Amino acid sequence: MTRSKWVIGVVALCVFWAIGTIAPGMAVGGAAHGGEEHKSPKVGILLVAFGSSETSAQVSFENIQRKVTAAFPAADVRWAYTSHVIRAKLADRGKALDSPTLALARLQDEGFTRVVVQSLHTIAGAEYQDLERTVNGFKAMEAFQKIVLGDPLMVTRADVAAVVTAITGIIPKERKQSDAVVLMGHGTCHPASAYYSALAFQLQLKDANIFLGTVEGFPDMALVQNQMQARHIQKAFLMPFMSVAGEHAKNDMAGDDSDSWKSLFSKAGIECVPVMKGTAEYDAFVGIWVGHIRSAMEGI
Ligand code: CO
Repeated sequence: MTRSKWVIGVVALCVFWAIGTIAPGMAVGGAAHGGEEHKSPKVGILLVAFGSSETSAQVSFENIQRKVTAAFPAADVRWAYTSHVIRAKLADRGKALDSPTLALARLQDEGFTRVVVQSLHTIAGAEYQDLERTVNGFKAMEAFQKIVLGDPLMVTRADVAAVVTAITGIIPKERKQSDAVVLMGHGTCHPASAYYSALAFQLQLKDANIFLGTVEGFPDMALVQNQMQARHIQKAFLMPFMSVAGEHAKNDMAGDDSDSWKSLFSKAGIECVPVMKGTAEYDAFVGIWVGHIRSAMEGI
């Protein structure tokens, strides 16, 4: 290469560099000149939920977003849904939601250095385990200086105790002591489903007319019905024990179909009053998740 060609090459590179820094939109991608020009904070909180396509669920998500933003004003709060089905449904409606992998890749790309991934699941079941694998992958890649996964709602004994307190605090005022309160959890074949039995037991110790059943695990609806009948319950308040009052609450709990809990309990002579609010609509529950983010923050 002659000297003049070399000089032309260097000049051309400088021009490209200058255009790159001036052109709008191009500067954002450059981690090298991140600090001054791109004022995105380096701490990110990724909130990860199963997701829901129901508009009724948005109240829960908005409440969490508000509480987390208020508690950690210096962090950038992002969302990801673990459910492929829900993401595909929302994408059809023009609402794009990231998977945890995609959301973390974005955070890495944008130059975040410290990230808390907060599970908004109720138990550390299969969904949580998948999330843990994803987080461990990003850890292994050293994508961030620090990445910590926050616990779902119930992991420690203190969590279960806090959940019991939260539940007893959200019972509708009009409920009389002789009325039952029935919580409908999701349930799963994953071993972590045992938390539902543990919680049901703790609730029974507090108030023998509070019952907990699950849609897809143990304890099931039939057991709850037997328990209520043994105590001659005549009226029951049905409440979802899921972060959102989504499809399960609408159909399996309070639906008009003959196999909903409301229909089956009513058929057994128990008057049902559904309460259509997800746990994440109540500050007492969101406070537990926020506490878990705070613990995770200490790790980063
Ligand atoms: Co389900």
